[in-house]
Amino acid sequence: MFRDGLLAGKRVLITGGGTGLGKSIGRRYVELGAELVICGRRGEVLQATADQFERELGARIDIHACDVRDAEAVESMMVRIWENGPLDVLVNNAAGNFLARTERLSPRAVDAVIDIVLKGGAYCTIAAGRRWIDAGRRGTVLCILTQSALVGAPFTVPSAMAKAGLLSMIRSLAVEWGPKGIRLVGVAPGPFPTEGAWSRLMPKERHREPVENGIALRRVGRHEELADLCTFLVSDNAGFITGEAIVIDGGKWLQGAAGPSAVNMQNWSDETWENLRKPKS
Ligand code: HXC
Ligand code: NAP
Repeated sequence: MFRDGLLAGKRVLITGGGTGLGKSIGRRYVELGAELVICGRRGEVLQATADQFERELGARIDIHACDVRDAEAVESMMVRIWENGPLDVLVNNAAGNFLARTERLSPRAVDAVIDIVLKGGAYCTIAAGRRWIDAGRRGTVLCILTQSALVGAPFTVPSAMAKAGLLSMIRSLAVEWGPKGIRLVGVAPGPFPTEGAWSRLMPKERHREPVENGIALRRVGRHEELADLCTFLVSDNAGFITGEAIVIDGGKWLQGAAGPSAVNMQNWSDETWENLRKPKS
């Protein structure tokens, strides 16, 4: 889909890039020539991803063990990254989430999610943005949201709140930093199987029917599909897109809005449809 070397010359930091979707996005970026930096809390996970990419793609990537909830740790990571050259792209992907009844959440539980997603996203964005602005450089920030940033999500309320906050950051900074050549964009994925998300959000009790039945396209997402969208959005081809978040959910949220009767009507027989055409006396 993309020409070889599309991202050559771009240095990209993906937070939480050692696992799951961040890892898949990073793989695609490396395949297209980007210089990749990843961070996360667990150094051994980052090292395993770096070893795998070196083995499979022949690419060396830069890793930083960093908890994005810690503003000082983020700042010192950015200092170390910039010592080897500026970033061109920041992908705010690190996240925490779990299912819980909101009225039972402790303050620490609320903080655990909001601090990773919202504060971590803000710390990384400000640290990169300040450097771009001081140096008069262009830059791009891509935030991995979820469709719940747009429609809410019962039982994962801190995550939905935090992602909605990131969406507000994207829209606000698109205007504030636009004149300086900095773009901010987002993607709002529906379900994409990963160990991190599935182990926390998809217990067998949750779905009486397969999760696919709640999605208009009747399947979950493929990592390559998200990675391709994330590639386009950070590439120069998307240079006129800013302040926008693109939903990539196979029609899940619209299916939810249409309600269960839309699912039911898919299964009506020809006879039922024909009977509806007959005039009622
Ligand atoms: C209620 C919980 C809880 C749960 C933790 N807590 N899990 N409360 N239900 N299931 C509470 C703890 O009791 C504690 O509060 C507080 O949260 C902090 O817990 P810790 O375990 O100390 O936190 P920490 O080690 O910092 O771990 C953060 C975490 C964890 C968010 C809780 O799950 C994590 O590390 N997640 C990172 C990866 C992740 O979540 N990936 C999924 C992303 S998927 P007390 O008061 O007891 O001390 C995603 C999809 C979005 O975002 C939408 C999909 C459709
Ligand atoms: P994941 O594999 O659990 O990814 C989360 C990553 O964030 C991990 O690599 C984790 O590494 C890192 N992280 C967590 N807390 C951190 C912290 N405090 N500091 C630095 N890094 C931290 O889950 P995923 O499914 O790939 O999720 C990736 C992104 O996609 C998230 O933004 C998520 O909200 C979004 N998303 C996923 C889905 C889905 O269906 N999978 C749907 C919608 C949106 P460490 O634990 O080592 O820190």
